[in-house]
Amino acid sequence: MGSNEKWWKNAVVYQIYPRSFQDSDGDGIGDLRGIIQRMEYLGKLGIDAIWLSPVCKSPQADNGYDISDYQDIDPTFGTVEDMEALIKEAGKYNIRIIMDLVLNHTSNQHRWFQEARKSKDNPYHDFYVWRDGEEGVLPNDMRAIFGGSAWEWVPEIKQYYFHQFLPEQPDLNWENPQVRKEIYDMIRWWMDKGVGGFRLDVIDQIAKEPDNKITINGPKLHEFIQELSKETFQKGDLITVGEAWGADPERAKLYSNPDGSEFSMVFQFEHIGLDQQEGKDKWDLAPLPFLKLKQIFTRWQKELHNCGWNSLFWNNHDLPRIVSRWGNDKEYRVESAKMLAILLHGMQGTPYIYQGEELGMTNVQYEIEDYRDVEIHNVYKERIEAGYDRDEVMHSIHVKGRDNARTPMQWDDTENAGFTIGTPWIKVNDNYKDINAKSQVDNPNSIFNCYKTLIQLRKEYPVFVDGDFTLLLENDENIFAYRRQNTDQTIVIVCNFYGNTIDMPLAEECKNMEILLANYDNTEDMSVLRPYEARIYFSHGR
Ligand code: NOJ
Repeated sequence: MGSNEKWWKNAVVYQIYPRSFQDSDGDGIGDLRGIIQRMEYLGKLGIDAIWLSPVCKSPQADNGYDISDYQDIDPTFGTVEDMEALIKEAGKYNIRIIMDLVLNHTSNQHRWFQEARKSKDNPYHDFYVWRDGEEGVLPNDMRAIFGGSAWEWVPEIKQYYFHQFLPEQPDLNWENPQVRKEIYDMIRWWMDKGVGGFRLDVIDQIAKEPDNKITINGPKLHEFIQELSKETFQKGDLITVGEAWGADPERAKLYSNPDGSEFSMVFQFEHIGLDQQEGKDKWDLAPLPFLKLKQIFTRWQKELHNCGWNSLFWNNHDLPRIVSRWGNDKEYRVESAKMLAILLHGMQGTPYIYQGEELGMTNVQYEIEDYRDVEIHNVYKERIEAGYDRDEVMHSIHVKGRDNARTPMQWDDTENAGFTIGTPWIKVNDNYKDINAKSQVDNPNSIFNCYKTLIQLRKEYPVFVDGDFTLLLENDENIFAYRRQNTDQTIVIVCNFYGNTIDMPLAEECKNMEILLANYDNTEDMSVLRPYEARIYFSHGR
């Protein structure tokens, strides 16, 4: 990697959902001190940065995505001093802390909103998006993402305010330069504390124009982001990643422009929506169209090569566990978890590992009363009322529910998997005696050590970072294979995506190459691929 390249190009980020990672005070909820206790584990894994889901002060109407004070930490998680201690402790392992910035909206308990709703001439009124109206006569028929109208009436001032999410999450008015200035000051305050980067929640929704019914990708979006970047991120050496459900490759090239004018990269979700019925929502399950998965990754790899940067992820706090989703969490759990890791980490971009993914943690099948996620309870209620079959509804929840990702981290085989000495806020997955960090860290054949090796390879072999991408065996229904090349290195990644033993059609291509990593022993036989078998081949030269 050239010396003028950005550090985050060969970095790997680890996402922590603080509520479920490690509890230090016995209240059953994870916290910042708990993360500090586990830093050695993260150091061993070799990650470069931690993305923390929101920890700022919040009434938790939407699990912290409703912030009431950007410059304070929620007491559930600790204090600003704990955050400073976390930044310092992580620094000892060369790990940077990425904060989750929620800039599209605040909590309705935020001081700005409390002021704004007092009167039309309050200095904070114009911090939010208001329209005159009459009670019961809505400005228009726009709907909120979490259901109901996007407009909420405030009788005291006879106006409606706009909210794309919950009524407890009023949208900020980015047209107001004062709002933008306050946000920049706040970001610089965190930068001064040594924060290493930011993940920007639903950033493609900030430039809304409700009168034109525009929410996502508003006309001023990139103008706002460029100003934000210039006033804040560009003053440091940060990693920044925007959440952009509305991104196509063209837009992603703007977001991740190598000139640094916007962000380092964005999360795009094209592959994530593949296993649902066309035009329906995520609960309406459909088999994964495998060839399409290959096409989508290929398009993003090619389009952003040399003119943008990808983020690579299978999991986050909103998604089911990948080994249960597109692997096999029963007899081939270890093999398939490693295969999915190898497949993703061989690509160009910055990989994100979601807590427990490196252990092959699986989905859960709870009874409805054991779930905590409001989204799960809402869909259950709605669908039962609409006459859906109960087993079918529960099946969708088992397959796609967000709580699959939110069960406590499985540290060891003691009670509550070592997560808490209290009562966990959500039940621990009962497979923790078999699947836990303690049994994997020192086992060279564990999933943990496969991830660890992948992180190291990215640092040792520049081709992982800068190589171009060619899809191989485009129409093969079982194998996901590709070649990456730079001027003096070549890697070929071959993955059997399914559970049958099949012919290996790339024996000729790989015959003079060495194996860098595989998920089975005995890779000499190049005529077949065993269930979920994955190999990384390497050679010098193009
Ligand atoms: C995306 C977050 O991942 C989700 O949890 C949250 O509800 C919305 N943004 C709104 O902030």
